[in-house]
Amino acid sequence: MKRVYDYLKKCKTYYLATVDGDQPRVRPFGTIELIDGRLCFQTGRSKHVSKQIHANPKVEICACDGETWVRIQANAIEDPRIESQEKMLEAYPELKALYQPGDGNTEIFKLTSGVATFYSFSGAPVVVEF
Ligand SMILES: Cc1cc2nc3c(=O)[nH]c(=O)nc-3n(C[C@H](O)[C@H](O)[C@H](O)COP(=O)(O)O)c2cc1C
Repeated sequence: MKRVYDYLKKCKTYYLATVDGDQPRVRPFGTIELIDGRLCFQTGRSKHVSKQIHANPKVEICACDGETWVRIQANAIEDPRIESQEKMLEAYPELKALYQPGDGNTEIFKLTSGVATFYSFSGAPVVVEF
């Protein structure tokens, strides 16, 4: 878990894919925090990404540090606690211009049933389950 967290933090931007009917959707994301030992990201309830996850919680994440890359499959489950929203917004204070804890739009998802596969051109893939 910590390895996955550190890698995503290092990359700063990762790409989050969701399922929209029979169409994959992917977009850049940046928020990632460990909350109660779970990897979590933040979004807005008004976004398509949120609606897609509520309809189908299966997500994939891809990130690359320039030399290696990771692919993560997981389920994204809402963490509705206000304290989790507060923790995320403390970690990303620039988001406070757009989001407030308990505003009805701020949404935290935790990743469950995660499988992260770290790849490089030089070695065998390394699989981490979390
Ligand atoms: C570098 C970067 C990081 C981003 N991080 C987030 C994020 O953590 N959460 C979020 O909701 N949107 C984030 N966005 C904005 C989303 O990519 C954007 O709102 C996207 O359109 C959401 O997908 P959707 O249109 O399918 O809902 C980020 C954008 C960029 C360029």
